[in-house]
Amino acid sequence: MKNMRLIQAGEPAEAGGTGAATEYAYRKQDFEAISALVYDHAGITLADGKSTMVYSRLAKKLRAKGLDSFADYVALVRRDPAELAACIEALTTNHTRLFREGHHFDHFHAHVRSGLLAKAMRRSKVRLWSAGCSSGEEVYSLTMTLLGRDREAASMIGGADLLLLASDINERVLALGRAAQYRGGDVTDIPEPYRSLWTQRTADGFEIREEARRLVRFRQLNLLHAWPISGQFDVIFCRNTMIYFDEETKARLLSGFADRLLSGGYLYIGHSERLVGPATARFKSVGQTIYQKVAA
Ligand SMILES: C[S@@+](CC[C@H](N)C(=O)[O-])C[C@H]1O[C@@H](n2cnc3c(N)ncnc32)[C@H](O)[C@@H]1O
Repeated sequence: MKNMRLIQAGEPAEAGGTGAATEYAYRKQDFEAISALVYDHAGITLADGKSTMVYSRLAKKLRAKGLDSFADYVALVRRDPAELAACIEALTTNHTRLFREGHHFDHFHAHVRSGLLAKAMRRSKVRLWSAGCSSGEEVYSLTMTLLGRDREAASMIGGADLLLLASDINERVLALGRAAQYRGGDVTDIPEPYRSLWTQRTADGFEIREEARRLVRFRQLNLLHAWPISGQFDVIFCRNTMIYFDEETKARLLSGFADRLLSGGYLYIGHSERLVGPATARFKSVGQTIYQKVAA
């Protein structure tokens, strides 16, 4: 059994700390090294106040690997890209919910959907993107809203060239999205008639029906790196993902989204987020945290 050491997570081991019992040696410089790695690879800023969270989320990895200290873990993450990915996965927040920030879906239904359906009926390509999709709840909420409130309207979409890209850095949550199976209690987040039309019960919960699932493509994509995506989008949802990035990274992402949106296309961001940087001039506000790309 490992020695129990009395070190305040985030404080230098030598300082002794104020008494939080920790199983592994964890120094301020270990936290700083992990923060730097996570920032460099995922753009996520871990403020000093997150030190305890970092300890508790990563301690089980040290246990599983039989390591003695966070210094050893940092060394492992530096030499092993798979462990770096696992470390980032452990430290990202994947919280999401079906029909989260419901006013976005109301706006999409009232102002965007019919134009996209008309475009699809003209045999033009229609593309939507949920960037930072987590386990798929956001993209399926959008898909259900797009399919609509009766099967007849939805059947028009059947033969159309219409797809939704759902991307995230985290492979674990992408697998959940592809499985499209959720806990029974979450079904109440889905307003009727979407719930009855586009979901069905399973033994221990519910799943998204095939008509919605087949429109969605889940892909691993780090928003900080190049986006291997061709063509432009009619709609981009990037909600509650930029909040973890610094201003410079947000500005760069928003310029990328402006480039990837068609003129007149819509950008939906999280309720605590705002536009920053030069891309601000390329959008007009059309609702609460909803923006439309203006013609250049
Ligand atoms: C809090 S969830 C938001 C989910 C959904 N958009 C919503 O609003 O409910 C943030 C997601 O961003 C992803 N993420 C964080 N950094 C990322 C990056 N650099 N590239 C792509 N996705 C990232 C995380 O893995 C996580 O699933």
